[in-house]
Amino acid sequence: MSNVTVIGTQWGDEGKGKIVDWLASRADIVVRFQGGHNAGHTLVVGDQTYKLSLLPSGLVRGKTGVIGNGVVVDPEALLKEIDRVTAQGLKVTPDTLKIAENAPLILPVHGALDRAREAARGERKIGTTGRGIGPAYEDKVARRAIRLCDLAEPETLDWKLDELLLHHNTLLRGLGAATFTKDELMAFLTGIAPRVLPFMAPVWDLLDDSRRAGSRILFEGAQAVMLDVDHGTYPYVTSSNTVAANAGTGSGVSPTSVGFVLGIAKAYTTRVGEGPFPSELHDEMGRTLGERGHEFGTVTGRPRRCGWFDAVLVRRAVRVGGVNGLALTKLDVLDGLKEISICVGYELDGVKTTHFPSAPAAQARIRPVFETMEGWEGTTHGARSWADLPAQAIKYVRRIEELVEAPVTMLSTSPERDDTILMRDPFED
Ligand code: IMP
Repeated sequence: MSNVTVIGTQWGDEGKGKIVDWLASRADIVVRFQGGHNAGHTLVVGDQTYKLSLLPSGLVRGKTGVIGNGVVVDPEALLKEIDRVTAQGLKVTPDTLKIAENAPLILPVHGALDRAREAARGERKIGTTGRGIGPAYEDKVARRAIRLCDLAEPETLDWKLDELLLHHNTLLRGLGAATFTKDELMAFLTGIAPRVLPFMAPVWDLLDDSRRAGSRILFEGAQAVMLDVDHGTYPYVTSSNTVAANAGTGSGVSPTSVGFVLGIAKAYTTRVGEGPFPSELHDEMGRTLGERGHEFGTVTGRPRRCGWFDAVLVRRAVRVGGVNGLALTKLDVLDGLKEISICVGYELDGVKTTHFPSAPAAQARIRPVFETMEGWEGTTHGARSWADLPAQAIKYVRRIEELVEAPVTMLSTSPERDDTILMRDPFED
């Protein structure tokens, strides 16, 4: 297998950035296949810190970056991100960045609708990033999206904007929000087109050629399985499929090109936004995990909710996500704790179960069943080999493997790139 697909197995923010960066340095091409600029990760390379939302991480390592058709592209956010990393010395050119012709665009109407709807939901808000992700995906499925290729055809933009505004202005007016005019959107799109169009490419074709030539392709997932629109904690999810199967659909390659699926799991659990979180800790321990793990959203800065590792949900993510191996991150955050718990099952209305229900009211009534282990003395921080780990920490990792029914093939023990224990090279699998 020469390709690798990386996906999150919890609710995002598992520390994918560091793992993806390490893998990107060994890949030829890095492909984003879903999500948009709701994702966010920080890459530290030398003395530079890059904050990426939409650009594939491989660009930082001088690799070709591809944004597939499954991504919703905000052209303004894209250009801002390109300008920001260019100012840091990175070269982003039409040779190094390719964006699918058929990628749907996020327009200012989408962000406005996202925020207006969240405000109208009040207490039942989803806690979206407010960046227009949901409305842009809705437009794609409703067949009224403006896609990247449309920027080259003002005559197409003309009738598509009529259709789009008929829909969105009706909704925005109903929600008491400001509406948009065709002239302002046309000016926005025609203004931005000359800078964005040079990146347009038939990426499916390029990826197929690269695959045949034996290139190593890394598919970089955003968000995580529990935020998947089908398999996550619906409706508290994002609007795309985050499972590895979507790497094919979201970039135009065959499902067999997905390769080794590396699932990223944090040694405990966090979540931003609303929605069920059975192993959440509302006590001092929750705050301790948040502080030690620096758990604040990269995109929104919101503090993340924290809890113990939920083995039931990760096992489910492993199964539906097609995970071949896990990268376990932030183990060092648990250093020095007297006791560590793992959620191994649930209780629903007094009945023990390992099935996480699909209906929201039942999800809210779920209570965790914990298994508690002794913590470890000494530190895992910065460990680079299995032998550097305290015996009790190894026991914790082994227990996780057993419960989630997947091998831990990588272990990350600090934000530093080299503080990683590699059991199996996913590109060699
Ligand atoms: P949206 O993707 O902006 O529509 O937000 C839907 C849900 O997904 C919210 O709970 C967000 O907080 C969450 N979300 C979206 N992107 C990320 C991410 O990259 N990390 C963690 N949560 C995310």
